Amino acid sequence: MLNFSISRDAGRSRNSVSAFFEAQEMLTLSIREDDMADGFAPLAFTADIEAETAAVWDKVKHHVTPMEWRLHAPLIVEINRLKREKNAAILAHNYMTPDIFHGVGDFVGDSLALAKEAAKSDAKIIVQAGVHFMAETSKVLSPEKKILIPDLLAGCSLASSITGADVRLIKERHPGVPVVTYVNTTADVKAETDICCTSANAVQVVEWAAKEWGTDKVILIPDEFLARNVARQTDVKIIAWAGHCEVHKRFTPQDIADMRAAWPGAEVLAHPECPAEILEASDFAGSTAAMNDYVAARKPAQVVLITECSMASNVQAESPGTQFIGPCNMCPHMKRITLQNIYDALVHEQYEVTVDADILDRARQAVQRMIDLPPPAAPARYDLVKARHHVDVELI
Ligand code: 13P
Ligand code: SF4
Repeated sequence: MLNFSISRDAGRSRNSVSAFFEAQEMLTLSIREDDMADGFAPLAFTADIEAETAAVWDKVKHHVTPMEWRLHAPLIVEINRLKREKNAAILAHNYMTPDIFHGVGDFVGDSLALAKEAAKSDAKIIVQAGVHFMAETSKVLSPEKKILIPDLLAGCSLASSITGADVRLIKERHPGVPVVTYVNTTADVKAETDICCTSANAVQVVEWAAKEWGTDKVILIPDEFLARNVARQTDVKIIAWAGHCEVHKRFTPQDIADMRAAWPGAEVLAHPECPAEILEASDFAGSTAAMNDYVAARKPAQVVLITECSMASNVQAESPGTQFIGPCNMCPHMKRITLQNIYDALVHEQYEVTVDADILDRARQAVQRMIDLPPPAAPARYDLVKARHHVDVELI
C-alpha cells in the first residue's frame, strides 16, 4: 500500500524547498518499504520465468507488448505457485484480459460454466477473476470455501439496477407469476427468485418455469434487452425490468452497417444483452460460450464479436485462422481485475466475499434449480428470432 501522508511539521519548521525534498524522501522511503511489504515491487523477469511462461506468451503475444510481458510473466509464475501452495483455484470469465485468461485461469468460460465450476471445485480458496455478482454466486454454491474478489469495486450495471426490495414489490404486483432472474444480480435479488438463468439457458428456463407454475407468464429480470430477445423465441409472455448492460447497450445498428461496408465477408456475432435491432443485424447471437463455439466450429475467415473487447482476444488464441475485427466495448468493471490484484488477493487472502446466512440458503435454491435442469441441447441462439412474430413484453 502506498503511503502518501507527508509530515505537516516539515513545511512549518524549514523553508518550503527543503521541506518539499524532505517530504519527497520520506515518501520514497515509505513507498519502498510498503512495496516490499505488499509485494508491489516488480518481480524479476528471469530466463527461467521466460521459459516457464513461453506457452502462455505464444497465446497472448498479439495482444501484449514484450514490455508488458516482462511485468506479467513473473506475476503469472508467482500466482500459479501461490495457487498450489494454498489449494486455490481461479475462475476467469471470458471477459478477462488474455494475460489472466490464458496465464492463470484454472477454469474459464461463460457465467453458467463458472457457476457450475464453483460448485464442483474442491479448492479451498476460489479467486473470482470476474465481477462481484459472480463471486457471490460462487459463495452461494460453495459456502464452505473462501471466495475472494481482487477488487471489491468490480460491479455490474445490471446487478446494481435492482434490489431484493424491488423484487418483493414486483411479486406483490404479479402474485403467482414465477420469477426468473439473470445471474447478473446480487444474492439478495437471487434470494427473492424462483430460478436463475444465464443467457445460455434463458429460453429453456423461462419455458420450464411457465410449465412448472402452470402459467403463460414469467417475470424475467433485470435485463430488458435479454428479456425482449427471449420473448421473441417463446410464446410465454414476459414481464421485464428496465435494467441494461452498459457495455452491450452502446452498440448501434450503424456500427454493424459500418463494419459490413468495410469488411463485406465478415460474420457478425452478438451477445443477447444487446438490443434486439443489433441481433437482427447480426448473423448469430448467443452467450459468450456460444460465440466461442461458433468460431471454433465454423472457423469463419473474418468475424466481428459484438461484445466486450477481451472476448475476441481470448478466442483468437485458439482460432489462429480467423481474423477478428472490431468494434468492441470495454467493461470497466471486468477491467478492474488485473494480474497484480489477483496476486495481492492470494498473498493477503483478500477481499473475502460473504453472504448473510438467511439470504444464502434462498439464493442457493434459485441457482441450484438452474444447475439441476438438464443442460440445453445447445446454448440458446437468439438470431433465430427472425422466424418468430409473437413478442409480448410488459416493462415494469
Ligand atoms: P455470459 O458469459 O453468460 O454470456 O455473460 C456475459 C456477461 O456480460 C457477464 O457479465
Ligand atoms: Fe455487467 Fe455488462 Fe460488465 Fe457483464 S459486461 S459485468 S453485464 S456491465
